[in-house]
Amino acid sequence: MNTDASKQRILTGDPFFRTFFRLLQTVKIHQSDNPLLLECVAEFVHSIIQCCAEEDRLTVQISRGRFYLQGETLTYRPDNLTLVQDMLQYFKQRGLTGLRFFASVREAASGQIVAFAHLLNNADRQEEPLAWLLLQMQEGNYPWVEIVLEADSSLTAHTSERGEKARRTYSYAMTSIQEVAQKMTSQQRAGVQKAKRMIQNMVDILTEDDSVLLGMSTIRDYDDYTYTHSVNVAILSMCLGKRIGLSRLSMERLGICGLFHDLGKVEISHDLIIKPGKLTDEEYDQIKEHSLNSVRQIVKLNALRDLKARIILPPFEHHLKYDLSGYPQTDRKKPVSLFGRILTITDIFDAMTSPRIYRPVALSPDRVLTMMLEGAGTEFDPILLKVFINMLGVCPVGTLLLLDTGEMGLVMETPAEAVAGRPLIVLLCQGGKGEFRKGAVVNLSERDPQSGAFRRNIVNSLHPSAYGIQPVDFLV
Ligand SMILES: [Fe+2]
Ligand SMILES: [Fe+2]
Repeated sequence: MNTDASKQRILTGDPFFRTFFRLLQTVKIHQSDNPLLLECVAEFVHSIIQCCAEEDRLTVQISRGRFYLQGETLTYRPDNLTLVQDMLQYFKQRGLTGLRFFASVREAASGQIVAFAHLLNNADRQEEPLAWLLLQMQEGNYPWVEIVLEADSSLTAHTSERGEKARRTYSYAMTSIQEVAQKMTSQQRAGVQKAKRMIQNMVDILTEDDSVLLGMSTIRDYDDYTYTHSVNVAILSMCLGKRIGLSRLSMERLGICGLFHDLGKVEISHDLIIKPGKLTDEEYDQIKEHSLNSVRQIVKLNALRDLKARIILPPFEHHLKYDLSGYPQTDRKKPVSLFGRILTITDIFDAMTSPRIYRPVALSPDRVLTMMLEGAGTEFDPILLKVFINMLGVCPVGTLLLLDTGEMGLVMETPAEAVAGRPLIVLLCQGGKGEFRKGAVVNLSERDPQSGAFRRNIVNSLHPSAYGIQPVDFLV
């Protein structure tokens, strides 16, 4: 991060977004000859010119939910995170994937720049914001700016690098929780350094863009259920934490809680954990002890006392339920802690969407969310659950969809710039023997250039098991 290039980007990216945002807000309030507005225009032009030092243009693009400036990942100061997120939202509402400003903007009349800002602001009130904007810009006189329609192929390279980093971190996470659990089982003292570093890596990735890790956590079919489950609960919890504005430090602690929430299972016999079929009352009682066991195991960890003190409570609470009707049964009246309420949601979601011995085919994420909604206010914190559902989108990764073209496809991801409810999907083609193969990847936000209508629409979501489909086979 501390390369000269990134320092340069921090210097140039922040003023651009700040002055652009200020301009867009100020034109809403003031007349075009207002001195304050003219000052905003001058600052905005100046910030563009600064970025144009090496090229005669400034290109701002969005790909998979993040900004790129001059084809490079945009870095910005942490205190500008909200600003950048607001701008992402602003672009998304207008269907904008990019803008290119030319250095000739320095010759543009301020009235033109104000008019352009009005156009951008008004676009989201139009039925087809992007098409309307393109038309207006053609009719008007804005030679110093253009809309960038296609994502640059070099941006895709950055995206796949990020995917690779996320995949490496994910498998590293699997090994580190596995190591801790194995040491615990053999009565050795396990340290948390590796797990902590791994969680910090994850927070780095999530702060930039959580779509890749989030996608990885909603699809799985591994034998090591407990480890995958722990990693997934950590990821889903941190992503949820990010949505509710937790600090970096809190996100790290929450991630560690997710990773260790079921650590107590090392005290229960493996045969019982993987036992198919119904459990006897006695066996179920043993299983129910695992949240208290987790507390005991966390205390034994080789870690700072302060950290341990902060990560004990949520694992203890993760089966208590929002209305305290779960286990372990207590007389307490004190509500479940915030982290405990988060774990309750992410734990159940991951458990239900995972294939298990007694349920070899996983339930699809959208079905699980529908079922979970029934527990809003009793089992789950209703507000957190709403944020969680929002985060996963209408169609979580791994959902099988039937399209109006008669095609079937699996949700791969929902890029932040996608039209709401229109994710990227991988089509499934049926071979001669009825088996499914991976087909093309299509974007449901894609429109027919002639008619302007969406090329494909969702008719319904289908149950993968009814078609003998395991989403993971097509997505990993
Ligand atoms: Fe549990
Ligand atoms: Fe769990």
